Amino acid sequence: MTIKHVIAASSAMALLAFPAVAEPTAEVLHWWTSGGEAKSVAVLQEQFKERGGVWTDMPVAGGGGDAAMTALRARVLSGNPPTAVQLKGPAIQEWYEEGVLADISDVAEEQHWGDVLPAQIAEHMKCDGHWCAAPVNVHRVNWIWGNKKILDDNGIAMPTTWEEFNAAAEKLKAAGITPLAHGGQAWQDATVFETVVLGMGGPEFYQKALVDLDMDALGSDTMIKVFDEMRVLRGFVDENYPGRDWNLATAMVMNGEAAFQIMGDWAKGEFLAAGKKPGVDFTCAATPGHGFLYNVDSFAMFDVGDDADKVAGQKLLAELIVAPSFQETFNLNKGSIPVRTDVSLDKFDDCAKLSSKDMNADAKDGSLLPSYAHGMALRGEPAGAITDVVTAHFNSDMTSEEAVKQLQDAVANAM
Ligand code: GAL
Repeated sequence: MTIKHVIAASSAMALLAFPAVAEPTAEVLHWWTSGGEAKSVAVLQEQFKERGGVWTDMPVAGGGGDAAMTALRARVLSGNPPTAVQLKGPAIQEWYEEGVLADISDVAEEQHWGDVLPAQIAEHMKCDGHWCAAPVNVHRVNWIWGNKKILDDNGIAMPTTWEEFNAAAEKLKAAGITPLAHGGQAWQDATVFETVVLGMGGPEFYQKALVDLDMDALGSDTMIKVFDEMRVLRGFVDENYPGRDWNLATAMVMNGEAAFQIMGDWAKGEFLAAGKKPGVDFTCAATPGHGFLYNVDSFAMFDVGDDADKVAGQKLLAELIVAPSFQETFNLNKGSIPVRTDVSLDKFDDCAKLSSKDMNADAKDGSLLPSYAHGMALRGEPAGAITDVVTAHFNSDMTSEEAVKQLQDAVANAM
């Protein structure tokens, strides 16, 4: 053996002993801290670890993610962003414009995301034509959850119009039952508000008012009626509502302390995590009116330069998130439905099946609409301006006329 051969053999052995394979690592910022949410994100964590990944968890409690987004801003400003972040809708574009997002097109193309995701949803995941976020699920926002026993005992069916809802709530109130479990946090007020806008105004009105920010729609008589209904709803919540977390409001329905909650289907994740069964312990129905407000959770990867471990972690996460097995297990826990069109719903309950059926039907006639309250329809500034007015109105004696005027002014200033 020549000296050249010896060197070649020993360097080959060195390579074998220390293979230059990156160890996938990820620091993941998310706001999934309630019972059902934590159970759901644990699925991703487990699958990541099974594939050799090292997961650093960065949970920031606070439904709707406002606190998580504040934490994200602080981390990015300090030049040290987390590697993967729960981020959605136009906020993805806003961060992309800051030049801090990674391109994950190689994973998306390898895994054929373009073939398995609905076009409208895929659009949210793209920045200037390339893939910059991985979608997790489709949550429907416009749901009413009911305590089955309370409704049966009081001879109440799930309401199909807002008049029916009000009548049922009056009846419950007279019987000494809190009709509506609600948490007085701005994003929860906004969640209820957008379902009323959709229900009372219809899909076209919703699109004009909360997506296109059309001044006539924002200042219309229909919008006055929406605020009137918000005032009526305010009369159906208990006096301890201020500041209450959404999952505690869900627990009130679960425990028979209240009859209804208006909330997206992450609430179903709470019922299920507590062992409650749809159709037996609780009931689901779309909020009165026609249409589907969607809220798609997704993860964006922040630019980590050429750190091989972090890049490997981002690619692995993106691959897992959209893969069929994660989509099924995660969404069974989360209350949402898979975002992929090729995952069977056989194991899913009737609420999920209704969601999927309505989504597909509503996609055909323009009534599949992005949720403004959950950051799918608008950029941060106009969305925040609307929410400020909605919550100011809900928590005061402001008239509907005044609210509508403030709404127009706030939106005009935010554009
Ligand atoms: C939403 C999010 C859901 C759910 C909810 C409450 O904005 O999309 O996944 O977690 O907030 O925290």
